[in-house]
Amino acid sequence: MAGRLEGKVALVTGAGSGIGRATALALAEEGAKVVVSARSVDGGQETVAGIKRSGGEAMFVRADVSIASDVAALVQTTVDRYGLLDCAHNNAGVRGQVSSLMNIRRTSGIATSQSTSRASGCASSMKPSTCSAKAPAQS
Ligand SMILES: NC(=O)c1ccc[n+]([C@@H]2O[C@H](COP(=O)([O-])OP(=O)(O)OC[C@H]3O[C@@H](n4cnc5c(N)ncnc54)[C@H](OP(=O)(O)O)[C@@H]3O)[C@@H](O)[C@H]2O)c1
Repeated sequence: MAGRLEGKVALVTGAGSGIGRATALALAEEGAKVVVSARSVDGGQETVAGIKRSGGEAMFVRADVSIASDVAALVQTTVDRYGLLDCAHNNAGVRGQVSSLMNIRRTSGIATSQSTSRASGCASSMKPSTCSAKAPAQS
């Protein structure tokens, strides 16, 4: 499966359905190794199965993004398996107070993110040591 993300490692939260699943499938289609994360084991496994049916590579890691230890374990499992993390779609969000993307701590090269406090917490768990790209310099 050759594409623009060949050899990259991508992580998608809330990938058991909806936008997260569609994103995971699209990233795999472009050649990324995808870490599919969700609370629901059935949903996450179904997304992984869809990627594998198309010839892609993926693994499922169960995580609730509202639980900090789950997010830390998710990132650690990703790095243990693939050695690094190139990009993440912090898709899983919890309705509540919406904050600005500018409030996310700039600790990593994050590809996309939902502007929710939960997603922010997820992003800040991804330290530069786990990621292949550093955040752009702030002006
Ligand atoms: N669809 C839209 O028009 C729209 C518009 C604006 C923003 N959004 C945002 O985009 C995101 C995805 O939307 P969607 O329509 O694809 O929603 P969805 O179909 O409800 O999918 C959300 C996914 O996130 C998972 N999830 C929910 N809470 C989670 C948690 N605490 N930890 C880990 N996974 C969790 C759900 O699975 P489990 O329940 O099994 O964990 C589900 O697989 C959401 O954050 C939503 O607020 C959507």
